[in-house]
Amino acid sequence: MQFILSQASLNDYSGQAIIVPLTSKGEQLTPAKAVDKSLNGFIEQILSSNDFKAKPGDCQVIPVAGGPRLILLGLGELPMTASAFIKAVNAAAKTLKGSAATDALIDLAGVEVQEQNQDWALRQLTQAFQNSLYHFDECKSKSEDDKPATTQTLNVVAAADKQVHLDFGQAVGIGMAFTKKLGDLPPNVATPTYLADEADKLATLSDKLTTHILDEDKMEELGMGSFLSVSKGSIEPGKIICMEYMGGKKGDAPHVLVGKGVTFDSGGISLKGGAGMDEMKYDMCGAASVLGTVLTMIKLDLPINFVGVVAAAENMPSGHASKPGDIVTAMNGTTIEILNTDAEGRLVLCDALTYTIDTYKPASIVDIATLTGACMMALGGVNSGLFTENEDLAADLLAAGEVSRDSAWRLPLQEEYQELLDSNFADIANIGGRLAGATTAACFLSRFTKGQKWAHLDIAGTAWNSGGKNKGATGRPVPLLVNYLAAKA
Ligand code: BES
Ligand code: MN
Ligand code: ZN
Repeated sequence: MQFILSQASLNDYSGQAIIVPLTSKGEQLTPAKAVDKSLNGFIEQILSSNDFKAKPGDCQVIPVAGGPRLILLGLGELPMTASAFIKAVNAAAKTLKGSAATDALIDLAGVEVQEQNQDWALRQLTQAFQNSLYHFDECKSKSEDDKPATTQTLNVVAAADKQVHLDFGQAVGIGMAFTKKLGDLPPNVATPTYLADEADKLATLSDKLTTHILDEDKMEELGMGSFLSVSKGSIEPGKIICMEYMGGKKGDAPHVLVGKGVTFDSGGISLKGGAGMDEMKYDMCGAASVLGTVLTMIKLDLPINFVGVVAAAENMPSGHASKPGDIVTAMNGTTIEILNTDAEGRLVLCDALTYTIDTYKPASIVDIATLTGACMMALGGVNSGLFTENEDLAADLLAAGEVSRDSAWRLPLQEEYQELLDSNFADIANIGGRLAGATTAACFLSRFTKGQKWAHLDIAGTAWNSGGKNKGATGRPVPLLVNYLAAKA
């Protein structure tokens, strides 16, 4: 999709559609009044007939003889809340996509959003329109027809210096689409090797990006007994994929994102139940969000050093798989008693974290993982869980989530929880019992990030929508991560 700044006015646009923002109460905005005037009061007539109530999320196409279609866009009352604004722009995007128009003009002049400025509105607008084009048909033998036939152009009325905001939202939307695609792909396609190949493809897009991939032989050499205890159960070889984006000053310590990339989580010998097990293809959504963020950062070309790391493995039961009771030694020397092979995310992440810290001496390190059902139960699909002992990092990540409307909620990571991981036979156990499951998982990771500026995001509830017609990856938390990194640039 193309987003073009425009100084045109809605009432003399000669393209295929105009998107007219309408309030449900009080005076209409200036652009709407101008259109109404040129249509001899047609819009007022529709509004007073009550056929269109102009609530946020209401959106309707009206064909007009001899002129561009009207796309009536409900705003509700002004100033609107940020979530009402997002609902409205998503509805506009969906309606334009469903219409026969391939271009449109939108004017948001006077659309006030509580606590947000126009730049924010422009970023959310293009993010929503770009996102509306996401469509998974990789595995359909015939492409479905709800796909827009031609590329669409959205002309946006704003001052000449606002293009950066249009571009920012679009880049986030493109990164989210990539993340969604990787998540939605079936687990027989999106294997660790596939993710490594996708990382290599990203590197061809920018001189600033180089990849560096550890195979199982290399991991053996490095003593990554924890990671390998998971990957050895599968015929798919595990990979640790490092994507180094050096856009900043040479020598500046990079910010690092580490994603859980379990491309299918059967539970291993501690096998999961059968119902809904297909959704465990989404257990690589942390990794997918890191790859999506890398793509967005390439598009934005920001002056920053950062590294995206993906810990990719498949968790399967087999003759080579770990058994409950096995004790393995992680790269940092910690011995781990594997009491449940389904707590595999922390086992692959801990060695990836040790390697990342040794190799990159990061300025900050954030891991992103579909780590626990407990976090999903606690926070549902609204917030990702945030765990950190670093107040600055907590503030940065919460703020990035807030501004991008991809929010996180802080959960505890206190010393007192650590003893739940005590093992009779090794340094630590890989599970902490029934209680505080999201926190004990974070505690486990904290053993491998001592002294680091580190945070853990548990995205088990936010990375995809479960079941039914809505099933699919969400592209979260790409907006949070991109805003976090952009604020560092
Ligand atoms: N990938 C799962 C977590 C998960 C489950 C995310 C369901 C989203 C939906 C993770 O590897 C896992 O199996 N965790 C276990 C940990 C337990 C064995 C301590 C869990 O949450 O049940
Ligand atoms: Mn598991
Ligand atoms: Zn898992």
